[in-house]
Amino acid sequence: MERFALARELVLQAGAALRESRLREDEIQHKSGYQDLVTRWDKETEQFLRRGISEAFPQDIIVGEEYPAANEGAEGCTWYLDPIDGTTNFVSQHRNYAVSVGCWRGEEPLFGLVLDVERPALYWAEAGSGAFRDGTPLHTSRRREVQELLMTVPGVPRTLLNPHPRQEGLLRLAREVRGVRSLGSVALELCALAAGEADLFVTLRSCPWDHNAGRIILAEAGGSLCDLEGEFLPLDRRTPVLAANAPETLRLVRERYLGAAE
Ligand code: IPD
Ligand code: CA
Ligand code: CA
Repeated sequence: MERFALARELVLQAGAALRESRLREDEIQHKSGYQDLVTRWDKETEQFLRRGISEAFPQDIIVGEEYPAANEGAEGCTWYLDPIDGTTNFVSQHRNYAVSVGCWRGEEPLFGLVLDVERPALYWAEAGSGAFRDGTPLHTSRRREVQELLMTVPGVPRTLLNPHPRQEGLLRLAREVRGVRSLGSVALELCALAAGEADLFVTLRSCPWDHNAGRIILAEAGGSLCDLEGEFLPLDRRTPVLAANAPETLRLVRERYLGAAE
């Protein structure tokens, strides 16, 4: 089976198991603090994905949230796995969480898959072939005026409430857009942009497994992403992310609210 077909199969199987899951309180643990959760299901899902990938492609590199990277430094493709993106939602709501799998060859995107598990809906894109939700082609919104934009912020405290050098600009932006939403899943919020259901996305902190699948889907749907300096988003480390429905929107927001030169 080729990589995309395998990934699709694994993501759908992982989603089916998560839909059936019943989480017990004693299966929830804290990682870096009380706002950073992991459950037995995050770990089991990542192990399931890793097993399937490494059996078929033993030379590939696997970067996932819950376990150390496999084959780091090797020549193969790199898989970025977030077994549950939106663990807090999984724990508190049992909805609004995703399985996210992105695959790259170095800095060349290959494909991204994001399964909104409970909806259920599969967002996917193969580089150069457009983005889809199940069988429906996706395109970002055509909104360009700041007052028309719906902005999404997956981590409100860090991005908007805590002091940081760009806080003032982001707060002004938040006041001037049509509205601000927070779903609590980077992957699903990038897919919402791809589907034209939001127009702008900002987070001060996102990890490779959070965004390396969704960014491919968003770019294939016509969207654009960068870090707060306007640079290509790194693949291999934590980074702020600014994403928009089009390159023009990204430029406008950077110039008007983030101090970029016009
Ligand atoms: C988190 C979610 C959340 C975002 C955090 C991520 P997790 O991922 O995407 O919305 O604000 O930065 O770490 O921990 O649920 O996989
Ligand atoms: Ca995540
Ligand atoms: Ca996760």
